[in-house]
Amino acid sequence: MRAVILAGGTGTRLRPLTYWTNKHLLPVGHYPMICYGVARLRQAGIRDIILVTGRSAVGGFADVLGSGRDWGVSLTYRLQEEAGGIAQALDLARPLLGAEEKFVVLLGDNLFEKSLDPYIEAFLRQPDGAMVLVKRVDDPHRYGVAEFDPVTGRIARILEKPIHPPSSYCVTGIYFYDGDVFRIMDRIEPSLRGELEITDVNNAFAAAGKLAHMELDGWWTDAGTFASLEEAGRRLKGILP
Ligand code: DAU
Repeated sequence: MRAVILAGGTGTRLRPLTYWTNKHLLPVGHYPMICYGVARLRQAGIRDIILVTGRSAVGGFADVLGSGRDWGVSLTYRLQEEAGGIAQALDLARPLLGAEEKFVVLLGDNLFEKSLDPYIEAFLRQPDGAMVLVKRVDDPHRYGVAEFDPVTGRIARILEKPIHPPSSYCVTGIYFYDGDVFRIMDRIEPSLRGELEITDVNNAFAAAGKLAHMELDGWWTDAGTFASLEEAGRRLKGILP
């Protein structure tokens, strides 16, 4: 399976640090943040990674990761000229992926403890559609939040940063898709904040009855705020998977 890491965006919640560098190049323990995602994918046997980032940051990623050779992977870079949303960043990988290919998407600021192996295996067994990983959190309003169908137990829909979260399960930035994702992408419209939202993509899978989910085991954070960045540094220290 191949993977896409999304590492663009503006990192506004980490200003002023992100005035001079991309969020995913900030230090977490002894490594730039991006290294943990690359190492985690490699640990799961993924050797081919498409990395999407912004124009001003790409040189920094090339300095750290190069071609991927020293990290045991092959990297292909795609440039997102403006931060147009997570789904718009993902769409940049479309020309490089097969029309019916199953792949995994990792938001570059998502850091976590356990291997992706069981989730990849489960998704490969899933006939089609998408799968997201959810995690119980104390502050669900910060994230996309899963609303579950009380009868089937499946995700009925995802609400993005709701004031009144329908559950305490946030949808992490670890997504599994088949080729339908790009057909859905052609149908979604920019949100009120002008971005193509990954939550709208996932909700289209849910509406079609094709969104599976699993609970992510172990510690997880998205290191998009100072508090979560500091927590990630404390937990990960210098240890790569
Ligand atoms: O971390 C999990 C959360 O990530 C989910 O629960 C939310 O549903 C999802 O929308 C997302 O929320 P965030 O507010 O954390 O998204 P953020 O704008 O911080 O972007 C997350 C990652 O996506 C970040 O690592 C950079 C990348 N990104 C983002 C945008 C907006 C891009 O590569 N390009 C972009 O244009």
